[in-house]
Order: sequence, then structure tokens, then C-alpha cells
Amino acid sequence: MKITVAGTGYVGLVTGVMLAEIGHHVTCFDINEEKVEGLKAGKSPIYEPGIDALIVSNLDRMRLNFTSNRDCAYAYPEIVIIAVGTPEEEDGSADLSYVKMVAKDITKYGKQKELIIVTKSTVPVGTNQKIKKWIEEDLQNGTKFDLVSNPEFLREGSAIKDTFHGDRIIIGSESKLAASVIEELYSPLNIPILHTDIESAEMIKYASNAFLATKISFINEIANICEKVGANIEDVSTGIGLDNRIGPKFLQAGVGYGGSCFPKDTKALVQLAGNVKHKFDLLESVIEVNNNQPLLLLQKAREVVDSFKGKKVAVLGVAFKPNTDDIREAASLTIINELNKEQAIIVAYDPVAHLKAKDLYKQGVFFTNDIREALTDATLAFIITEWDEVKEFPIEKYVEIMETPIIFDGRNCYDLHKAKNSGISYYSVGRQAVNPLIINS
Ligand code: UDX
Repeated sequence: MKITVAGTGYVGLVTGVMLAEIGHHVTCFDINEEKVEGLKAGKSPIYEPGIDALIVSNLDRMRLNFTSNRDCAYAYPEIVIIAVGTPEEEDGSADLSYVKMVAKDITKYGKQKELIIVTKSTVPVGTNQKIKKWIEEDLQNGTKFDLVSNPEFLREGSAIKDTFHGDRIIIGSESKLAASVIEELYSPLNIPILHTDIESAEMIKYASNAFLATKISFINEIANICEKVGANIEDVSTGIGLDNRIGPKFLQAGVGYGGSCFPKDTKALVQLAGNVKHKFDLLESVIEVNNNQPLLLLQKAREVVDSFKGKKVAVLGVAFKPNTDDIREAASLTIINELNKEQAIIVAYDPVAHLKAKDLYKQGVFFTNDIREALTDATLAFIITEWDEVKEFPIEKYVEIMETPIIFDGRNCYDLHKAKNSGISYYSVGRQAVNPLIINS
């Protein structure tokens, strides 16, 4: 099939590449010409394992191309997939201006007789009806079009795997014919398909992200209580995860969730509920717990070191999770901001995201991709992202190279027995402190 994907961000680019790989002819459109030129040369603007090879091979096969020319993008595709960003407005709602722009471009540049418009961007319930209205307002050439809501569930860092081997494909449409065309589009993937109405498909995306965020805040609250009552969160997570009804995933306690989806989508769902006069108290608490979680780790450190001023503090991990260079809504930034306000000398390590973060601060914060540089002579260290490079860093080295080996681990990277034997003072989340100490500055 002949497809145009509007937007070459995470969702758009991964979708475009996947569709080309399974045999479709795909044009990826983006308004950013520099990005398009890079993509034409085979350079991915996102850090995602496996994506570069797929871009290059599908460019070579002539099944994938990139353009910033609206005429080329919209004149004759059978399907347009909307995958542009829906950034957060000040009140937490989703900004739909990029989605509207695509709808307007479709009506202006489209020359086909029939068209299926697929919405993959995460949009509030009711948006597809808005898109329909925007298109009908302007449609002059009598094109027959159908709308399909087809949300995406891929995770950064494993987006390629997720897109080829997802748990489900959701197809929400008013038109049986359009729904069957989209089912056919994905048929080489062998992923279970659920057909729904448009509003339910839109809701599935928000409800999935909100549920996962709830699982994380729930386990973080249990962890916070574990610390106070002498329980161990790792055992508690394992124990409750063995119940098939709960399942073992997304029960890793830590400094909370970040990234481009959970923080934005949970706020948007609270906003959406508010619009229909429903106060989503549970989700508001999930968000509050998440905002507090990095601050609790800092609070633990404050109880040990009564001032950060002038002390070298290592922050291990800047990305919001491993295997990505994305630092949006990362817990590391909350920690670094607070330490910076309290005039610590911060050396933050990340194997990939150090470059993205380096221009964020004027003074007092240094970024490196050398973990030893961050730790050498540091008074204390925070572990914020569980990169393999951090988990595999020999625990004895903290004693060897830090001024005082005091570790606040926001991701429970180390075994408590190993930590005890190594001699580090080790504070983690939902577990008892190991070799605790009080030092006065
Ligand atoms: C998420 C959803 O998983 C995906 O389906 C959706 O399409 C986009 O949002 P992503 O943001 O890439 O994907 O990351 P994910 O792997 O889900 O992790 C999100 C955050 O939750 C990370 O900050 C991670 O550290 C945190 N997390 C995850 C936990 O703190 N504990 C867990 O047990 C799992």
C-alpha cells in the first residue's frame, strides 16, 4: 500500500520504517527540513537500537522516502498516518495544533478519490471527531475519507522490537471497510487485533499509560512504607507479582517514571476527566506520588550530609531510563536542580544522554560519559538510571575512588549483601540502609 506518515518523531519514524520493512511504500513527512535531509542520508534523529540499519536498507530498496514537501506527501497516498507530537499545554491538556495542521494539509494537497486517515498520535478522546470536522470544513474535491484511531504502545529503547512484536493492535473506526484495510496493512506482523469504536480506541491508549503509571506509583508508595517497617520491596514486589492477576511487570520501585509519555498522558487524562466533570482523584495522587519520589531520595541524603554546599556529588544516569538519550521529565533533572540550588558541585554521568543535558545548566553542573570521572573524589553519589554500565560498575571501586563512598541508589541496582561486604554506605528505595553513617560537614 502507498502510505504517508506525518511526523518523524519516535512514533512516526518507527512506524514508517516498520511499514516499509513489511513491504509497503512509505513516505515520511516532516516540516523540519534539516531532519528530513539527515534521514535521507540514513541518519536517525533518535537514539534507538536497530533503527539506523532499517532506515538504510529500506531507503536502498526504494520503499522508504523522506520529504518536507506537502505536495509529495499528501497528493496520492491511500493512507495517511498522523504521528505528529501533541505537546502538553500549560493546564496539562494536549496541544492539537500539529494534528490540525496535518488535517488542513490533507485537504489542501490531497488529490486522491479515497483516503483513510489513521491517528497514531496520542490524542484525547473526541479528537478524531474534531479531525473529521476540520477536514469536512475544507474538503473541496469530493474525496471520500474514513478515520481510524490506531494508538501506538511502543517504548523508547525497545521501539523496534515493540513495533514488530507488540501485544496488540487497536483499530477503532466507524467504517468496517477502513478497519479491514488497516487490518490488512498490519497482517504480516501476526499481532492480535482488537476492533473498537473510535472513542474506545482513543481511551485505550490513555487508560493503558495511566494504569502503568499507577502500578509504578503504587509500588513506590509500598516501598516508602517498607523502609519504615523493615520490609524489603524487592521481595514484596516478587511476592505480589507471582499472583497472575497482578503480574510481575512494572513493579520496580525507584525514583518514579519519566519520559515523554507517562507524565504528559496522565496529566492529559486528569484534564480530560475534568472536562466531563469527573475528578480523577486516583490519577491525581499517582502524579503527586511520582513528583515526590525523587525528592524523597534527596531527603534521605540530607539526613546524612546536612549540607550539599561545595561538595562534589556524582549523579549516575541522566536519561529517564536506560537505552535512550531522552531526558524529558527525567528524575535526574529534579535531583540535579535541587543539588544545584544548594550549591553542590555536580558531575553527572550518562553513557549516551550526557551530550543532550550539557547545555541545560550555566554553572555548577558538569556532564561526562566517564563514570570514574564522575565518582573520583565525590562525597556522595546518586544512582538515577539503571544503565548496565552502572549496574556492572564494580562496587568496591566506590570505596577506592570516592572521597567518602556514600551511595543513594534510586534504582536498587545492588544486592544488599554485596553492598555490606564492600564497605560502602548504601541507601536504596524500599530496603534497609546498609552500613549507614552520619557525617557532619
Ligand atoms: C511508555 C509505555 O510503556 C508505552 O507503551 C507508551 O507507548 C509510551 O510510554 P516509555 O515512556 O518509552 O513507554 O517507557 P517505559 O519503559 O514504559 O518506562 C517509563 C518510566 O517508568 C521510566 O522512567 C521507567 O524508569 C519507569 N518505570 C518502569 C519504573 O519506575 N518502574 C517500573 O517497574 C517500570
